[in-house]
Amino acid sequence: MNQFDLKNRTALITGGAQGFGFDIAKKFLNSGANVIIWDIDEKELQNAVKKINNSKLSYNVADVSNFEKINQTVFEINKKTNIDILINNAGITKDALLMKMKDEDWNEVIDTNLKSVFKLSQSVIRKMIKNKYGRIINISSVVGHTGNPGQSNYTAAKAGISGFTKSLAQEVGSRGITVNCVAPGFIDTDMTRSLPDDYKNQLLGNIPLGRLGNPVDIANAVAFLVSNKASYITGETIHINGGMLMI
Ligand code: NAI
Repeated sequence: MNQFDLKNRTALITGGAQGFGFDIAKKFLNSGANVIIWDIDEKELQNAVKKINNSKLSYNVADVSNFEKINQTVFEINKKTNIDILINNAGITKDALLMKMKDEDWNEVIDTNLKSVFKLSQSVIRKMIKNKYGRIINISSVVGHTGNPGQSNYTAAKAGISGFTKSLAQEVGSRGITVNCVAPGFIDTDMTRSLPDDYKNQLLGNIPLGRLGNPVDIANAVAFLVSNKASYITGETIHINGGMLMI
């Protein structure tokens, strides 16, 4: 049974070919939404569309750090439909201790994980304001709140998302638009599968619920936040980390 009704809504999900984005897309489609997934990886996009096999799903090959292309692609989508829901999910890591961090590793992570959130939100907000309806969810991270050695670029981007979310929520609240963050802990996706085993075991020791999260744990929270059941929640961060922040 699907408890969230997203009929007649159109959602744009970045990084939607794999990981959380893919599960969020499935959840939204099961809730009746039209879904557009964006990803940099065309092959994975085609796989995702094949796996999901739903005529309400479409895709664009789009790099969220290509800001001109973002505007152009949103402009084209806007000619055909409204974007009611935006999920800023695409993200990358380029880890290094500060002493060794290259400018390009800093810039790439900030552009992909933070500046894209600014540019894409900006490109959809005018029409949301006109329609007096919108939902924006930004995917941040537990480490944006705790910090993490070797991830000064990533944690700066994720902490930045949290401040951005609060400011935008205040700017557009009176227009029927809510803006929230979901901050995952360590979730079982390609991003965490590449971590060394001993580091993963150490992490598990810090998770009171004793397991990595599942992408569907994130998709459930995102679906709740974009549904009418969450219409009085804005500027918030929902932490989904098995209790890590209690420690
Ligand atoms: P993933 O690596 O499994 O999937 C990310 C998707 O984004 C991929 O399909 C990739 O091709 C796409 N992508 C990468 N760069 C892109 C770009 N420039 N433009 C468009 N698409 C791009 O990642 P996962 O684990 O699903 O993460 C999703 C979000 O959740 C990210 O923002 C990540 O930082 C965040 N997150 C993930 C956690 C985890 O444990 N997996 C924990 C906390 C936050």
